[in-house]
Amino acid sequence: MDAVKIADGIYWVGAVDWNTRNFHGYATPRGTSYNAYLIVDEKVALIDCVKTPFVQQLISRIRSIIDPKKIDYIISNHSENDHSSGLPVLQQLTGAPILASRKGMEHLPLNYGKLDLRMVADGEELSLGRNTLKFIETPMLHWPDSMMTFVKEQGVLFSMDGFGQHFAASHRFDDEVDEATLFEEAAKYYANILLPFGGQYRAALEKLMGLDIRLIATAHGIIWRKHIAKIIETYGRWAEHSTRRKAVIIYDTMWGSTESMAIAIAEGIASTGAEVQICKASATDRSTIVREVLDSKALVFGSPTLNMGAFPTMADIAIYLKGLKPRNRYAGFFGSYGWVPGGVKAMKELLANSGLEFKWEDLDIRFNPMEEGRRRCYDYGVSIGRTIMSEQP
Ligand code: FEO
Repeated sequence: MDAVKIADGIYWVGAVDWNTRNFHGYATPRGTSYNAYLIVDEKVALIDCVKTPFVQQLISRIRSIIDPKKIDYIISNHSENDHSSGLPVLQQLTGAPILASRKGMEHLPLNYGKLDLRMVADGEELSLGRNTLKFIETPMLHWPDSMMTFVKEQGVLFSMDGFGQHFAASHRFDDEVDEATLFEEAAKYYANILLPFGGQYRAALEKLMGLDIRLIATAHGIIWRKHIAKIIETYGRWAEHSTRRKAVIIYDTMWGSTESMAIAIAEGIASTGAEVQICKASATDRSTIVREVLDSKALVFGSPTLNMGAFPTMADIAIYLKGLKPRNRYAGFFGSYGWVPGGVKAMKELLANSGLEFKWEDLDIRFNPMEEGRRRCYDYGVSIGRTIMSEQP
């Protein structure tokens, strides 16, 4: 397998994982890639690694350029297993030390036992000859250990999880793939991986400001060279939790009553001019729902009452979403019940302290919302739509 040249003496030597469909709970219908890079200079550095099943692919691509034993440094920008689980094999093969952040030094032995590790500090530089590496700590993008590595002379930013996408492709660069698909996958990635860390991203952006970035070489998916300004600007908006005139209705149903409510609410929202997306929890994977949450101002949850509590698929999405801390968004709750309401109350308990502002009165309807019930739902939707339209630019 061959390496792909991305800059002078810099090569992509990673692996494309066409078939993975689940990344720790995140549905990946387009697969992903684990990007590693080789810098060939007076000293040779490998930037990041791959997941264990892909190590031979990595080694094969390195061999297409040099003997792996000539590698002098292995840079571990991020210790999560998708980038690090191949490190023990690579270190055994090359004998090269692994350079990591202080937190990376803490994490890696806890996963892999004894390794030859050396710490690099935030802002520290390492000359390879013609190229100088600058290490930039970016904690919580995506783990406490995360850092980016910048090649000063060529403006190449190895951005680890930042700006990534779960997007397997036969091409490596952003101007070689469909732009809309690329940004959609970047949005889904941000929503599911980085949404809780907007503050940390803004801090990272401060550090990146002033760098002459000519290439963003991500750890997943496509490398940015044409749309660098656009993806940085888009990340800035996401990090601010800025949203659109949009609502997402997330619901499930037992016998169709809560579904009937959802449809009437959606019609009410749409009647105001606001955009509305409906997601049935049992028919839509949670990571796709969270992608819709990313640019929605209003999140409207519909759960029937089951055994006095929330419907299980709705509890699942509530728990997932709470961990992602969706700030600067409103929430409303509705659902059908039989003898005692309980689904709505349970959903509100699950989403307490999630960052969502509970904006509207609850809407509980007993059994099937007949014409009068559907009218109440429609009016409820109108109220949500008007709020969105009046507050959102
Ligand atoms: Fe791609 Fe946080 O690992």
